[in-house]
Amino acid sequence: MTEILKADPAGIARAAEFLLDGKLVAFGTETVYGLGALATSDAAVAHIFAAKNRPRFNPLINHFADAETAFKQVQTNELALKLAEAFWPGPLTLVLPRGPNATICDLAAAGLPTLALRVPRGQTTHALLNAVGQPIAAPSANPSGRVSPSDAFHVLRNMEGKIDAILDSGPCSVGLESTVLDLSREVPFLLRPGGVTLEQLTPICGVIRNPDDYATKLPASPGMLASHYAPVLPVRLNAEHVEPGEALLAFGTPLPGSKLTWNLSESGDLEEAAARLFAGLRFLDSEGARRGLHGIAAMPVPRHGLGLAILDRLRRAASPRPPAGGDDDLEASLS
Ligand code: TXA
Ligand code: MG
Repeated sequence: MTEILKADPAGIARAAEFLLDGKLVAFGTETVYGLGALATSDAAVAHIFAAKNRPRFNPLINHFADAETAFKQVQTNELALKLAEAFWPGPLTLVLPRGPNATICDLAAAGLPTLALRVPRGQTTHALLNAVGQPIAAPSANPSGRVSPSDAFHVLRNMEGKIDAILDSGPCSVGLESTVLDLSREVPFLLRPGGVTLEQLTPICGVIRNPDDYATKLPASPGMLASHYAPVLPVRLNAEHVEPGEALLAFGTPLPGSKLTWNLSESGDLEEAAARLFAGLRFLDSEGARRGLHGIAAMPVPRHGLGLAILDRLRRAASPRPPAGGDDDLEASLS
């Protein structure tokens, strides 16, 4: 059974109890809902991989209440300290070499010599991290390869019965995942565009190897599998018209001709669009399928700011997938 916990002191205490007991709790962050387990326990973290059907070569992000605690796990450097100062708590994940005193378990790191660290924003998230007093490993709380959850209801729909509890702190304010920046190489390497934009990072980092440098078939990060964030209906990118039988994911003034539309942002605001992206994909997918539609046409989104993260998710949602046959087939192909 999956308990739904309120974001009040009793709910937070119960969530912490579950986590300390090695159980799985989904919780809200400013980006998306995470599927949390005690990051120091291989046994607890193993439940995450099982519940998500996630390939074990794909490492997890470890969440901390503050930068000081986070950096105890790694070999840090000046740039990491500056970025933490500028963006934590917030939607930035830093990948750094594992330190000699690291307590994060091997499974959370997928056996890699680096660790991914993040200090998320949000009162409830912080209360939970403080109540647990240990790092929490948490990928997005969706089945592997599927659309990420930006509210507790999304988590419930996908994970009911597979996890012990959901701590409901309402919808996520940013709505798409953290930016993942690898600082373990000579030049900072953007593994995943996200809530902190390249324009925000560049003044501090200088040169960053950028997503378009590595948009190849070879994943730079184990999690950069091509097909990801995938709704069931196929997605067509940069649509300039709507074909019969297509639902429309609009940005700005909607294209004519669609009977089912979700507008990311009528005014063309990228923050609003990011926050509405995953809910929109889920809506068009379920409602479109119910009405017998056969695809989703996605309008162009600007290639700057949060637009890069939105386009990254849409590109993956549109990537070729294995032949139809249901979620199980898709997930098997990702493992
Ligand atoms: O916003 C977020 O980042 C959310 C919330 C819950 O914090 N979490 C999230 O986790 O999106 P997940 O597991 O869906 O994505 C983590 C990404 C994956 O692409 C993974 O491969 C990468 O981070 N990653 C984790 N550890 C890594 C490492 N040591 N080296 C390279 N990539 C790593
Ligand atoms: Mg994910």
